[in-house]
Amino acid sequence: MAIIIDGKSLAKKIRMELKEEADKLKKKNIYPKLAVIMVGDDKASKVYVKNKSKACEEIGIQYEEFLLDANITMDELLNLIDDLNKRKDIHGILLQSPIPKHLDINKAFNRIDYRKDVDGFNPINVGKLVIGEDCFISCTPFGVIKMLEEYGIEIEGKNAVVIGRSNIVGKPLAQCLLSKNATVTICHSRTKNIHQITNNADILIAALGKPEYVKDSMVKEGAVVIDVGINRTEDGKLVGDVDFESVSKKASYITPVPGGVGPMTIAMLMNNVVKAAKMHK
Ligand code: GUN
Repeated sequence: MAIIIDGKSLAKKIRMELKEEADKLKKKNIYPKLAVIMVGDDKASKVYVKNKSKACEEIGIQYEEFLLDANITMDELLNLIDDLNKRKDIHGILLQSPIPKHLDINKAFNRIDYRKDVDGFNPINVGKLVIGEDCFISCTPFGVIKMLEEYGIEIEGKNAVVIGRSNIVGKPLAQCLLSKNATVTICHSRTKNIHQITNNADILIAALGKPEYVKDSMVKEGAVVIDVGINRTEDGKLVGDVDFESVSKKASYITPVPGGVGPMTIAMLMNNVVKAAKMHK
């Protein structure tokens, strides 16, 4: 039976450390502040945003929410981002994804000042990550790396396989693993012989968004399995991209859903807001 990586407890420990850092900043009259923009009323996004605001409150990060109508124009969205870029009291700006299809999300991420881009989605931060410069790393990949490190799981020299190639998770995560000297393979919907590749993984990360897709037949004995998926089944149960029941019998470490990667994503967002506030002069 695998050791279960307790993302919930680890995230709490990180939030407590960040609270101390935020308190120190306040003594220097720096009040960390996050602005969150949400467009439309995507149900899952509402839950994520609520959790982010709760974490801000716990740490003592100020929080301002901008709820925009689903029919706004691209210019209106960009104007808001410009205003927030200029505001001296705001250190971090987050545009919750997804946004309605008539809006260009990449253009919006591009417009967020890279020094306030606590999600790490601005191409400047993406580029800095690739060439190994200090930058904002997107929160889910950052959280996954932190979990591996906190559990003393070696990355260097390991075969790491990431299933999923999204801009938010798969690609930056592969980059993070590469920067830690893993040998990285990215699998996706067009990958041939995926079982053969995943069975060679020392570290297997599922980030494809398909409920319980990774079965024990895809996992090498003793592999470390990280589940980034959050899917709701028809009967309302929350499941990941990994079939926890069977895979946990074969893996050496595994993350649960809920209570694994999810809380770590939010903790790393908080980390990035505190970092942004520290950089602020
Ligand atoms: N939607 C799902 N995950 C995320 C995230 O980490 N950041 C943003 N901005 N939107 C998301």
